Amino acid sequence: MKRFLLVAISLVLVLGCSKKPMDRPIGIIPQPAFLQQEEGVFTLEKTTPVYVDAGDSSLLRTIGFLNERLEKAAGFSLKVIQDDPLRHGQEKGIFLLDAELSKEAYNLEITPGRVLIEYGDGAGAFYAVQTILQLLPTEIFAENRQRGVRWELPCCAIEDAPRFPYRGMHLDCCLHFFSVDFLKKYIDVMALHKVNRFHWHLTEDQGWRLEIKKYPLLTEKGQWRKETVIGSLSSGFYDGKPYGGYYTQDEVRELVRYASERYVTIIPEIELPGHALAAIACYPELSCGLEDHYETATRWGIFKQVYCPKEETFKFLEDVFDEVFELFPTELVHIGGDECPKVSWKKCPHCQSLIKKLGLKDEFELQSWFIQRMEKYINSKGHQIIGWDEILQGGLAPNAKVMSWLGEEGGIKAAQQHHEVVMAPYPKYYLDYWQADPESEPLAMGGPTTLRTMYEYNPVPEVLTSDERRYIIGVEGCVWTEYMPTPARVEYMAWPRMCAIAEAGWSKADKDWNRFTRSLELHLGRLDRLGVAYCKAFFDPFIELHKDTEYSKVATISVDAPGAEIRYTLDGSTPTAESRLYEGPFVINRQQRVTAAAFREGKRIGDIKYKIF
Ligand code: ACM
Ligand code: ZN
Repeated sequence: MKRFLLVAISLVLVLGCSKKPMDRPIGIIPQPAFLQQEEGVFTLEKTTPVYVDAGDSSLLRTIGFLNERLEKAAGFSLKVIQDDPLRHGQEKGIFLLDAELSKEAYNLEITPGRVLIEYGDGAGAFYAVQTILQLLPTEIFAENRQRGVRWELPCCAIEDAPRFPYRGMHLDCCLHFFSVDFLKKYIDVMALHKVNRFHWHLTEDQGWRLEIKKYPLLTEKGQWRKETVIGSLSSGFYDGKPYGGYYTQDEVRELVRYASERYVTIIPEIELPGHALAAIACYPELSCGLEDHYETATRWGIFKQVYCPKEETFKFLEDVFDEVFELFPTELVHIGGDECPKVSWKKCPHCQSLIKKLGLKDEFELQSWFIQRMEKYINSKGHQIIGWDEILQGGLAPNAKVMSWLGEEGGIKAAQQHHEVVMAPYPKYYLDYWQADPESEPLAMGGPTTLRTMYEYNPVPEVLTSDERRYIIGVEGCVWTEYMPTPARVEYMAWPRMCAIAEAGWSKADKDWNRFTRSLELHLGRLDRLGVAYCKAFFDPFIELHKDTEYSKVATISVDAPGAEIRYTLDGSTPTAESRLYEGPFVINRQQRVTAAAFREGKRIGDIKYKIF
């Protein structure tokens, strides 16, 4: 009923609009499923009322997020009137209407007289507000009062709903540790992009980060490593400084609450059977017992000291998960499962006799048995498991979901077996890979994987049948922090590439690189105001020299910023707006050095980059 009335109201208001060029560009990330801009604006003012049904505290909180921003940037907030919005249909204002829409969906109709928000559920209303924030001038994200800004929303019609239910962003808090305050900011920025799963990597060889009351050593001791490798994992240099950090259970509860208010579910990851060295250093009886001494790892990589599948290990893990279930109300928990070397199991008398006793073929089947046994326990407590694609080795646990990181293959196999899959393939969705020329970027894992590569990746493999494609439930961007010791470095590596993954996860609109980059350029102004230390390679030329002959190479230069032209020199001089215009691949010889910059209207927009033979 409400829906009909709303359509009637909005038709009258929309029809008055003509189709002239708009002077308020819209750039929403992720792109809504349907968006049509109309002429005119709706202006937010001190007196603008928001009509909302009474008694829904989550809706009030969601409006509160809008008001919080307005209060800071505009110096006023909107008046919230808790009454049936339809009784005020003839008034000017913002109307929130409960409608029969799918989960997380919303519609927006903005005309000079009204903002109509239809939402399917609380998440839908929250996402409508995120879109409204992105329709306002970017100054809305400022922390302090912005003078002389008109708080206008461009008239438009938007219909929006997610492409996938799982839109995730991962953060490894083990290789490096990050404060709860930073995690809150991380979640805020995720939520702005309609990303709804925070995959929290909490246990590793290099540190255990989650307080477990029953096993206090895990954090008393297991949070610490005695030093950290400097440079890449095999440099052989160490800093000599103890490194630690962990989250108390109170902090976890606080973060879970904070995230849920922003419609973000936290998926905790407790690694098993590998990546367990920090736990084993605290409780050596969990290992195969082949060594005299176990220590939390001090460099990155894969370690052979893994959990031994014996009763006391299962008791330990079940106890740990019992506390995890108390802390995290989520149905889904991540059990890791990746990179478990089998060398210790091969040498361990217990493991070998277990393989015989169970009639297993090899250590891969032992791993599968280990995970299936944990799945049974976790299912019995009302939870489901997801694991990295190595959990396919030796046979997938009956109800497991797979997070496909080793390229697409694991995801394809799992979907073909009718298991749900989250696509997080390396290197396409690995945010720890270089995003620009490694020669001028900070140390990273590999790559480069550019913004454009991420944007163009299709997370639904073509080889799947249409039935199998239904098992792809979402996407995730992975942030492994070997080379990200600070929050600023995390943000630098994650953004803006995560914008591309968020768009793949949410947007049902067709991919369009030009639209995306136009929106992104506006969007970067939002990230600036939010104090996100994103990478600005978007404005820089990316020079690549391709193999040709002994004396020649073919140079290509690209830039992401839309409408930019690239100017370059070959004699080492600084490019200006008058330098040679890049029009396509060209040849250089050994004597030449390519120096390039991007320009718009005669002004340089990014850094100068160069490349030598
Ligand atoms: C992984 O990157 N080891 C999942
Ligand atoms: Zn063993």
